[in-house]
Amino acid sequence: MTGVRDRLLTTIAGQLGNPHGVLGKGVASVLNRGNKRAIAAAVDAAAPTAAARVADIGFGGGIGLELLLARVGAEGVVHGIEPSPDMLARAHGRFAGAVAHGRLALADGTLTAIPVPDASLHAAITVNTIYFLADLPAACAELARVLRPGGVAVVGIGDPEAMAKMPFTPYGFTLRPVAEVVAALSSAGLTVEQRTLANPPIPHHLLIARKA
Ligand SMILES: C[S@@+](CC[C@H](N)C(=O)[O-])C[C@H]1O[C@@H](n2cnc3c(N)ncnc32)[C@H](O)[C@@H]1O
Repeated sequence: MTGVRDRLLTTIAGQLGNPHGVLGKGVASVLNRGNKRAIAAAVDAAAPTAAARVADIGFGGGIGLELLLARVGAEGVVHGIEPSPDMLARAHGRFAGAVAHGRLALADGTLTAIPVPDASLHAAITVNTIYFLADLPAACAELARVLRPGGVAVVGIGDPEAMAKMPFTPYGFTLRPVAEVVAALSSAGLTVEQRTLANPPIPHHLLIARKA
């Protein structure tokens, strides 16, 4: 029985860190529904203006791309960056019009290798992604690199204590104290404000990191 449970939880954690295949299609929909409030709050915190150049890094099911496209409007550009080929393919299908009009640039990448030039983004969001990173300081340095002066990166994470109670998190998630994430962003030269979201569906923390 333990073997079956371990395999199931390993599969769930693996899909959340790299949605793929037939199961990945369902995971993308579940992510969009379950994380919509946290992602919408991250977009609100980033507060991109019309015509801004922004990114969602590790966009998964893509609801963040939709929200960012609406915020930056016809003159803005959204970079959708993802390491999962299946999530990239899904976004190409769902957002074909925005891609064709040059409003959405989809690319293979990770938080430690963001495929955009230095100081090119007004804002970036990344929600429920840093659990899958080995090197958090490198990711924070990379976020600082891609922001313009005055730009903002919003890192959204589930509350570590609530996350630790979920049965699948021991099977591949790295859960870090909020203070560790704040310290890593600060060490990268960013000024961090913290907000907590009580309800979506577990408490989330938004770390709003600004570049001087
Ligand atoms: C749990 S899903 C979250 C998706 C979406 N941001 C959300 O909140 O619903 C994690 C996503 O992060 C992506 N990911 C995994 N490792 C990553 C990394 N090193 N850098 C950026 N994204 C990564 C996965 O492919 C997956 O789409």
